[in-house]
Amino acid sequence: MIRNPSLRRRLLLFVSVPLLAVLVCGGIINYVIGLHYANKVYDRWLLDSAKAIGDLVNSDAGRNELSAQARILLQFSVKERNEFAVRSLRYGVLAGDDNLPQPSPKAGLAGPLFTNFVDRDQPMRMASVFLANKADPGDVLVISTAETVHKRRALARELLVSTVPIELLLIGVAMALVWLGINRGLRVLDPLAHEIRMREAGDLSPLRTIDAPLEVQPLVATIDALLARLDRMLRQQQRFIADAAHQLRTPLAGLRLQAERALADPRPETVREALTHVERLSAGTARAAGQLLALARAQAPDESLGAAAPLDLAQLVRNEVAARVPDAIAKGIDLGYRGPEHGITAIGDAVLLREMLGNLIDNASRYGNPGDHAGAMITVELQPAPDPGSGCALSVQDNGRGVAPELIPRLGERFFRAVGNGHEGSGLGLAIVREIAERHGAELSIVNHGDPHGLRVEIRFPPIAA
Ligand SMILES: Nc1ncnc2c1ncn2[C@@H]1O[C@H](COP(=O)(O)OP(=O)(O)OP(=O)(O)O)[C@@H](O)[C@H]1O
Ligand SMILES: [Mg+2]
Repeated sequence: MIRNPSLRRRLLLFVSVPLLAVLVCGGIINYVIGLHYANKVYDRWLLDSAKAIGDLVNSDAGRNELSAQARILLQFSVKERNEFAVRSLRYGVLAGDDNLPQPSPKAGLAGPLFTNFVDRDQPMRMASVFLANKADPGDVLVISTAETVHKRRALARELLVSTVPIELLLIGVAMALVWLGINRGLRVLDPLAHEIRMREAGDLSPLRTIDAPLEVQPLVATIDALLARLDRMLRQQQRFIADAAHQLRTPLAGLRLQAERALADPRPETVREALTHVERLSAGTARAAGQLLALARAQAPDESLGAAAPLDLAQLVRNEVAARVPDAIAKGIDLGYRGPEHGITAIGDAVLLREMLGNLIDNASRYGNPGDHAGAMITVELQPAPDPGSGCALSVQDNGRGVAPELIPRLGERFFRAVGNGHEGSGLGLAIVREIAERHGAELSIVNHGDPHGLRVEIRFPPIAA
């Protein structure tokens, strides 16, 4: 079974590993310091021995031999490996071990000299003092004492070992305190967990109200952003369901009525008439369902506008217009495009932009008929940006009667339809156009324009950021 990573364990690990490293370093430093002081003490001892021997030797002034008292001292058998040598620069080794390396006084009778060397595979340290030979004024006596360095190291080790239990105890105490601290510190998350646990299922309000610690704020902000997205999606779904119910209730009632009529009166002409209604109602319902889905697509949360990319708007518009020309010709409408062939870049979602243009052309061809003998004319125009600071503008203009000025502000409301336009529709087309324009950061303007006044719908795209 895979265990979830534990924040407690991680924190403990991240704190205790460096702590242990620090303690190990402390141990090494302790050892080095211990060794340093052991060296000092034993060096002093070596030097004192050398000086004492020197005093004894020099009290026998006038002879190149040692007194009985000195011999006893120098022949003293010491434990471990302690060596000594009394040398005269003029007469050679007077006493002791003549294997000891011979130090030479650097400048006359220099101060004591310490030398490290290896003898019979054992590291040794030697202290030497230089004295003027009282028996022979031109001569210099070199008195050396040497010993193995084992006991120095042993002393440093002893010092280190004596501190280990205390350090281990400190580690234990520090770990316990760290563990307690972590547990206590993590308790600040409890109110947040409690708040989330106690929430109502439908409560998608932000969590920001709680005093979450600073370090958890990014997490809270992420959860809030998620809640906001969920809220938007939920609202959109609810609106879609309400819209769908609103759109389907009437035609379904109509379909049922026609079916009842046909069943009640099976004469062929009645059935045919009922079926004609059924056909019209179902076509209208299918269109309404299509428009509802298009609106839902246009209103989908911003993150799902994945297809937004630079595209050639001129090409897109020209192709879309061209695709609708045959249909327009069949209806006796003169549909034309004015603008560059290609090379107008905009950032957008091609599917949504086609949807928007389709709705505008559909409206113009349905409601833009001048009604007199003049032919219906629809012009789709794309104007390039006049300067780098502004964007391009797409407009659809017809030569119909336009919309009563007082109703223009309401165009784009869901389900709003100007009465008496003589056509069926769901009243969603301009709402879809508005939504898509907003999504692209474009400005939508609807005006009666031209002579006679037709409706002109213009979408001004934002300039493309360099
Ligand atoms: N070019 C136009 N000329 C005159 N009136 C228009 C024009 N375009 C739209 N309208 C009016 O605006 C109303 C809303 O248009 P919209 O496209 O939103 O809905 P619809 O065309 O009625 O239904 P749908 O497009 O969803 O099938 C229309 O009912 C119509 O009265
Ligand atoms: Mg429409």
